[in-house]
Amino acid sequence: MQDKINAYLGEVEAFDATDEAAIEQFRIKFAGRKGLLNDLFEEFKTIPNDQKKIMGQELNKLKTAVQAKIESLSAGNDNHASSPLSGLDLTRPAGAGEVGTRHPLSQVRKEILDIFSRIGFTVEDGPEIEDDWHVFSGLNFPPEHPARDMQDTFFIEKNPDMVLRTHTSSVQVRAMENSQPPLRIVMPGRVFRNEAISSRAHCQFHQIEGLYIDEGVSFADMKQTLLYFAKEFFGKAKIRLRPSYFPFTEPSAEMDVYWGLNSEADYRITKGTGWLEILGCGMVDPNVLQASGIDPLKYSGFAFGMGIERITMLRYQIDDLRMYFENDVRFLKQFNRLV
Ligand code: PHE
Repeated sequence: MQDKINAYLGEVEAFDATDEAAIEQFRIKFAGRKGLLNDLFEEFKTIPNDQKKIMGQELNKLKTAVQAKIESLSAGNDNHASSPLSGLDLTRPAGAGEVGTRHPLSQVRKEILDIFSRIGFTVEDGPEIEDDWHVFSGLNFPPEHPARDMQDTFFIEKNPDMVLRTHTSSVQVRAMENSQPPLRIVMPGRVFRNEAISSRAHCQFHQIEGLYIDEGVSFADMKQTLLYFAKEFFGKAKIRLRPSYFPFTEPSAEMDVYWGLNSEADYRITKGTGWLEILGCGMVDPNVLQASGIDPLKYSGFAFGMGIERITMLRYQIDDLRMYFENDVRFLKQFNRLV
């Protein structure tokens, strides 16, 4: 056995090759499953015990020499060095993966819903493809009424009674039809308008609408609720209500918040007035209550609606609507502070 080991050691020592196939052959010959090393280890079992210690050492010497040879030849092998894995430490722990963030519009929607949920509003949902009744007629838009032109509507060709909802007020009608007051709900959702030239040029945007109906609800309740919202969301304590018109509210108003005129940017975004228009609102028209099965002599209420894109632009002074759709991570990453 000793002779064999010596002979193999000599062979291993002398072996030299650069191409991978030859090195692999060498490996199989000595270290393969049916290789010479395995034969020797089998033979080792049969030798007398008193020789085992010394033979064991010899055998290990050969094994180490074979391994060292294979390693040194492989390391010097150019083919090997240029393999895509060479130079990579595959045992290194991976770096932390990038964590995504919620889209700014989702963050703002959640924030607004949270603000209203703190004063008892719950969230209602409704379909995006709606019938004329819920989008218009039930909201006091008579057929052919010019007020329908306020919102450029997408109609469903196959069924002229169906439209893509132009506002979330449709959910108001559904909620009033389905339950009796007290009603205190907020309704977020996507809405569609066929507007070619406007800040909403993408034909779809998001609104949040609110509705509060109970006995004895007054304009003052609406004002306080909206003031609370302005304080919570914008941190601004001054609002004003300007008369406006919506078919479904009477009286109707637009709410502005006082933004201030402390910087050049304030001048720019408020067009020098200090005020920013935030939302539309009003006392629910008695006709609308009646149409949905609520007694206008017993109940009154207010509604308001705002565009999430617009509110988010004002909040973060985003000046191009396209930012919302491009999903540029450099933009999105700036909103990783919240929820
Ligand atoms: N639905 C109106 C719009 O889309 C907003 C609004 C809602 C106004 C509720 C008053 C009350 O412009």
